[in-house]
Amino acid sequence: MKVHHFGRYEERRWRPIVWTSELEVGVETIDKAHRELIELYNAVREASQLKDRAWTGVLLERLGNATAAHFEEEEMLMSGINYAQAPDHKEEHRKLLDEFAHQVDEWRDRHDSAELLCRFLYAWLHAHVAAMDSNLARLINDRLASGGGE
Ligand SMILES: [Fe+2]
Ligand SMILES: [Fe+2]
Repeated sequence: MKVHHFGRYEERRWRPIVWTSELEVGVETIDKAHRELIELYNAVREASQLKDRAWTGVLLERLGNATAAHFEEEEMLMSGINYAQAPDHKEEHRKLLDEFAHQVDEWRDRHDSAELLCRFLYAWLHAHVAAMDSNLARLINDRLASGGGE
């Protein structure tokens, strides 16, 4: 399995994610889902720091499912607008899910702590939201402002 790299955050982040306006993209369904993912991330981190391995595993499964559902929802939104970056955005979603599954396997097989996994999640959540999701949201809002729909 290929390992993808998601930037410099990896070296130093093992902390909760605090919701700030910086993370807000301005489309309610997307922001709501991102908040839920962040809550799950924070819960995973806390369970791992409390060394509750069983609960960490349960939360990781929830986070994986919530992420996959969120990506599907975003991809539905993409298909309703003329969004040139759709193939790249979908490809990044696919890579993130692959890498998430890989990191969960690594945690299960090799690590006591979910620290590496959380560092990876912290990095990709920030990077993906800042780059691709905020772009998509801007386009959706432009479309709505100019009369909406297709
Ligand atoms: Fe998203
Ligand atoms: Fe996305």
